[in-house]
Amino acid sequence: MDEGEVDSNCETGFTLVKYKRRLKYKKKNVLGNGNINDECSYDNIGDIMRRFRESQLLIRNSEQLNYFVNAINKSITLLNANKEVGNNFIKDIVCYGIGKFSGSHQAMHQLALLIQFKHLYNTPVHIFDPVLSQTEREILMNLGLNIISYNEEGKRKVDVVTLFFLPHCPRELLNNILFTNWGHSLCKCIIISNSHCRIITDSPSSALHNYKYITEITPAIQQIHIPNIYRLTDVFNDMAVHYFPIEELETVSDDVWRYNEHPVYSKHYSEFIDCVRANRPLEQPPS
Ligand SMILES: C[S@@+](CC[C@H](N)C(=O)[O-])C[C@H]1O[C@@H](n2cnc3c(N)ncnc32)[C@H](O)[C@@H]1O
Repeated sequence: MDEGEVDSNCETGFTLVKYKRRLKYKKKNVLGNGNINDECSYDNIGDIMRRFRESQLLIRNSEQLNYFVNAINKSITLLNANKEVGNNFIKDIVCYGIGKFSGSHQAMHQLALLIQFKHLYNTPVHIFDPVLSQTEREILMNLGLNIISYNEEGKRKVDVVTLFFLPHCPRELLNNILFTNWGHSLCKCIIISNSHCRIITDSPSSALHNYKYITEITPAIQQIHIPNIYRLTDVFNDMAVHYFPIEELETVSDDVWRYNEHPVYSKHYSEFIDCVRANRPLEQPPS
C-alpha cells in the first residue's frame, strides 16, 4: 500500500491512513508529537474502541452525566436570565488536555463524556492535547471531533457561547482562556475544569502570582460544584462548571479589565506544554 493510502477495517468500522515507514519499536516520547510510540495497528485500534464503547456505556447510564448536564443547563439558564433558553445555546465545544486515552482510563472516560456533550448540544467539538499520538488523533477524527491543528495554549478568543472542557488541566490553560477573553466576552465562556475555588484556596499566594487572571476574576466567577459519584473515583474528582453572568462582570472595576499583560509562566515543571516546550524535553521539578 502506498504512503498515505486509506484502508478500512470491518470490525472496528475504522478508516486508517497507512504510512509507508512504520516504526517497529517503542521509543520514549515524552511530549508525544504523534509520530513515535504510535503502533497504529488494527488490533490496537480495536482494543481502544472496545474500551471506549465500554466507557460510553458506563457514562451514559451514570448519574454523573446528569450532574454535569444539570450544572451546564443551570449555568445556561442563569446566564440567559429572563430569556428563552433553547437547546442550541452552546454553539461550540473546546476540549484541552484530555490526555492519552489509549492508555489512561481517566482520559478514556472523560472522552466518553465529551462525546455525550457533543450529542446533547449538537455542536462541533474542537480538541487538542500535545501528547496525543497520530492513532489517537485519527480515532478522534473518526468520532467526529475536529483536531485543533496547533498548540494555541488555551488562547482561543470566542465569539459564540463556548463550552470549554479542561479535565484536570494545568492552571495555565484556564488562566490563558481568561486572559484571551478578558472583559465582558467572558459571559460567552462556560468552563468545566478543576474547581476555581479550590485552586484559589489550595494554592499559596506565592504560587498564584503568575495566574493573575484566575485570581482577579474571583468576584465575578460563579461555579457549580460537580459531586464525584462516578464508579471510578479518579476520573471526575474536583470538577466544577464555571460561568460569568454579565451582571457580575459589570461589577468588576475598569482598572481590573484594563490589565492585559501577557501571562508568563516561569515554572516549567507544571504539566503545561507551551509552543516552545513542545519541541524540547520535559524539565525536572527542583528537588
Ligand atoms: C494532568 S493531565 C490530565 C489528563 C487527563 N485529562 C486526566 O484527567 O488524567 C494534563 C493534560 O494537559 C495537557 N496539556 C498540557 N499543555 C497543554 C496545551 N497547551 N494544550 C492542551 N493540553 C495541554 C497535557 O498534555 C496533559 O495530558
